[in-house]
Amino acid sequence: MVLISGSGTNLQALIDDLAGQGSLASIVGVIANKADAYGLQRAANAGIATRTLSHRDFVDRAAFDQALQREIDAFNPDLILLAGFMRILTADFVKHYRGRLLNIHPSLLPKHKGLQTHQRALDEGDLEHGATVHFVTEELDGGPLILQSRIKIIQGDDAASLATQVQQQEYLLFPLVVRWFAADRLHLNHDRACLDGGPIPASGLRLEDLESGI
Ligand code: GAR
Repeated sequence: MVLISGSGTNLQALIDDLAGQGSLASIVGVIANKADAYGLQRAANAGIATRTLSHRDFVDRAAFDQALQREIDAFNPDLILLAGFMRILTADFVKHYRGRLLNIHPSLLPKHKGLQTHQRALDEGDLEHGATVHFVTEELDGGPLILQSRIKIIQGDDAASLATQVQQQEYLLFPLVVRWFAADRLHLNHDRACLDGGPIPASGLRLEDLESGI
């Protein structure tokens, strides 16, 4: 199950990856909190069920999250992915999906939680930037890290160029983590992300290390 708010390029990367032969998972549905989210079109094009649930139709955050939970549970998904879902979630919602709710965030967490991550990386003079996939817990962008990918910030980079480069990394990260989960290799044990039974370092695994066989 994938939750989105916008263009859904990460959703597209997941659709494409899961369409491959021997895939252990499929996307049962896509929910957007905005009716004009282009990701809904991507899902429909791939024959995936879609729902729109506008937060504007609810009196408060708790009421929206309860309705969202009902929509999600109707699909009975094993895993819920936040792929550019631009909503802060209530503690009750997050607890309900503990261990099966993942988020992709456009920074090297724990740096730059929240919004405007690319500009903030530039403003702080960071030499590197990137993306992170993590388990979602009650702390915003604060749950156990699973996998990160880094890019170098070079002279002349601006927020737009960083966004483009970071998103290219995101399209690699999220499908790989979903594969691990689908193969029953990835778990949240107490407050620790674990891969193949062993704890993942608190700083997360690095895609570059995996690729070079470390
Ligand atoms: C992605 O870059 C994702 O990391 C970010 O929104 C973008 C969605 O793009 N998510 C957040 O900022 C969450 N705080 P997409 O709709 O094209 O996949």
